[in-house]
Parts: sequence; C-alpha cells; structure tokens
Amino acid sequence: MTILVTGGAGFIGTNFILGWNAAEDEAVVDLDLLTYAGHPGNFERLPRPERHLLVRGDLGDRELAADLLARHRVRAVLNFAAESHVDRSIYGPAEFIRTNVVGAFNLLEAVREYWAGLPAGERESFRFLQVSTDEVYGSLSLEDPAFTETTPYAPNSPYSASKAAADHLVRAYHHTYGLPTLTTNCSNNYGPFQFPEKLIPLVITNALEGKPLPIYGDGRQRRDWLYVSDHVAALRRVLAAGRPGETYNIGGGEEKANLEVVESLCALLDERRPRPDGLSYRSQITHVADRPGHDRRYAVNADKTQTELGWRPGHDFQSGLAATVEWYLAETDWLKSVRDGGYRDWIKKHYGDGDD
Ligand code: NAD
Ligand code: DAU
Repeated sequence: MTILVTGGAGFIGTNFILGWNAAEDEAVVDLDLLTYAGHPGNFERLPRPERHLLVRGDLGDRELAADLLARHRVRAVLNFAAESHVDRSIYGPAEFIRTNVVGAFNLLEAVREYWAGLPAGERESFRFLQVSTDEVYGSLSLEDPAFTETTPYAPNSPYSASKAAADHLVRAYHHTYGLPTLTTNCSNNYGPFQFPEKLIPLVITNALEGKPLPIYGDGRQRRDWLYVSDHVAALRRVLAAGRPGETYNIGGGEEKANLEVVESLCALLDERRPRPDGLSYRSQITHVADRPGHDRRYAVNADKTQTELGWRPGHDFQSGLAATVEWYLAETDWLKSVRDGGYRDWIKKHYGDGDD
C-alpha cells in the first residue's frame, strides 16, 4: 500500500519523505502545489526514487485527491500542505484561508468518501494525520504553564487562525463521521531544507552576506525549538501508534528568547566562518519594527506523546543548531536554487532592502 503526503516538497515534508524513503518499503505519493515554498529538487536526494511519486496539484482539488487515493489504494494521509509563514499571513491572509482552511476541507471530503468505501478492515486501520502547530494555542505569559493538549485554542495571527480552523474540521470529521484522525501540534522546527524566510535560516544567510540580522521588537519573544528530524520521528510514532481522534503535542523543551537564538547562531558562525574583519556577526544584529500581534511566548508540554508513544527528542538545541549551521554552510547550491525572484521580492517588501 501507499501513504499520501500533501506539501511534501516543503521543509518538514521533505525531511519526512527523505527519512521514510530510506527506511520503509512503502511508497509515498506527494500532492504538492509547488508554491514558492516547495522544492522538487529536494527529491533528487531520495535513495529509492522509484518509491516516490510527486504530483503537482492543489490539496483542495477534490477530484485529483480522490483519484490519487483510489488509484494508489492509500492507507494513510499526512496533511503537511499549508501556507506556513506568519509574516506572509499578515500581508495576505486570503491565501492562508484558501489553502489551510478550504483546501484542508476539500481534502477531508475526498478522504471521507474514499474511506467510507473501503472494506471494514482497511477502514479501521486507515489514518488521517493533520500536521498542526502550537501557535493555535495562542500566547503564554512568562508564568503560564506550557501548552497541553487540553489548552483551549486561542489563535492570534491569520496563519494560526487558519490552522486552528482546519484542526477543528479534523476534530469534527472524527466526531461526526468516525474518520480515524490524528492531530499533532508541534513547536518551532529548524534544520535542513528550511526556506530562508524563517528566523534561523534567514539569520544564517544574512550573516554570511553581511546584511542586518533583523530582530523584531525587543527580541525577548520565546519559542520552543525542535530539530526537524525529531518532529519527523514523532510524526512516525503518532501515525503508527496514536489513538484515532486524539491530539498529540510535540516540542523540544528548548525554550529560547529570539535574541538568544540569534546570538547562538552568531557564535557558531564566528567559530566556523569568521568574518574577515575579525568582528563578531553580533555586530550585524539590528532591531526592527515588531511583528503586528506578535505572540510573546510558546512552550509545549509533550508529556502525552512521550509517555504514550515513547517518543523523545534526539537533539538538544546546541547540537541541532550546530548541525543546521553546518548544513547551510555546505548547501550553497540549494540556497541559490530556492532564492528566486519571488524570494527577493518578499525580502524587499518585508524588510525594505534588496537581496542581492
Ligand atoms: P513549508 O512552507 O516549508 O511547505 C509547505 C508546502 O506546502 C510546500 O511544499 C508548498 O508547495 C505546499 N503547498 C502550499 N500550498 C499548497 C496547496 N494549496 N496545495 C498543495 N500543496 C501546497 O511548510 P513547513 O514549515 O514544512 O510546514 C509543514 C506543515 O507543518 C504546515 O502545515 C505547518 O503549519 C506545520 N508546522 C510547521 C512548523 C514549522 O516550524 N515550520 C511547526 C509546526 C507545524
Ligand atoms: O510554532 C510553530 C510555528 O513556528 C509554525 O507553525 C510556523 O509555520 C513557523 O513558521 C514558525 O512560526 P514563527 O512565527 O514562530 O517562526 P519565524 O521563524 O517566522 O519566527 C520565529 C521568531 O523570530 C518569531 O518570534 C518572530 C521572530 N523573527 C522572525 C523573523 C523572520 C524576527 O525577530 N525576525 C525575523 O526576521
């Protein structure tokens, strides 16, 4: 049988697919619109390319999804596809609603119809896994306990609201139709193949190019960082052993202020690729206007995933960050290939400077 992944050419999807392809005999069909965030060239690194099929299309194309589900006799769907960048959602929320909400709804409809027609045994073992985010829980104060699976949803950005809407639909499809769903709420990922619009790869690339390292506001906002392969390992555990209808929090337990993250990156780069003038990359840190509605703090309590499924993160923040810096230092061709005209337009529009 086969699993269907949506959005597999993006950051986390690529890491998931590369790992799956190396370890499992089961084929993957990847339904991906290949927006600015999807990079089909990533799949040139597949160890067994014959077990991978990339189909360019919209997750909301019900007919296409129905055809792929039936033709490949799919036994599980993992929905990674989304518009994922909070800043972009502030400039243009419509695309987030179209993909993250309406797209997810159409995908659920195609899956529901397919699933209802399966023989009893296959219906029971079928899974729909919604890859979601900790941002749906809103923002914490310094004194608040970390998010648990029962923390009420309180999304604050158009991005997180769109993810929350999709999560609610997934919940409703389990409750109403009995669709065997799983939802994961993960914290901030970092690592190989992340598009350089997100904080960590943006800072690495800007540092090396002598550009400002933009810190929104006071830089004391806190995020819980998780190395991407640890997220992927958790998803595999949830898919294999998660209980239908349940949600599982995933996080690294590595809560850091943004300034700390950027300073750690500067220290790693100072060591690995010192600036010719002997100054620290810290000298490039620049405070810029804050993100509107910026969430102050996220922290994830992943006890349920750890105790129920035996998952643990394999990387601490320092080792994960060092591996990430190494990857970006080595992968200059990858970086060049993903930073096209659209990327430069975004950087110019958002930060008000050119990219070349
Ligand atoms: P990404 O932006 O790197 O990749 C998104 C992928 O979805 C791309 O391949 C893109 O081409 C594809 N896509 C976009 N619109 C589509 C559409 N309409 N139809 C089909 N494909 C479409 O995102 P990511 O960082 O890899 O995140 C993947 C998922 O994980 C998202 O659902 C995101 O909300 C969630 N998540 C991300 C993080 C994180 O830190 N990056 C943390 C928790 C959860
Ligand atoms: O928490 C999980 C979420 O993490 C995912 O759901 C999102 O898809 C993912 O993009 C990420 O969202 P964030 O907004 O937390 O990530 P980002 O890398 O954009 O920003 C991390 C922090 O750094 C945030 O507090 C904003 C800040 N920041 C970001 C950029 C791009 C800056 O200070 N300067 C910047 O230039």
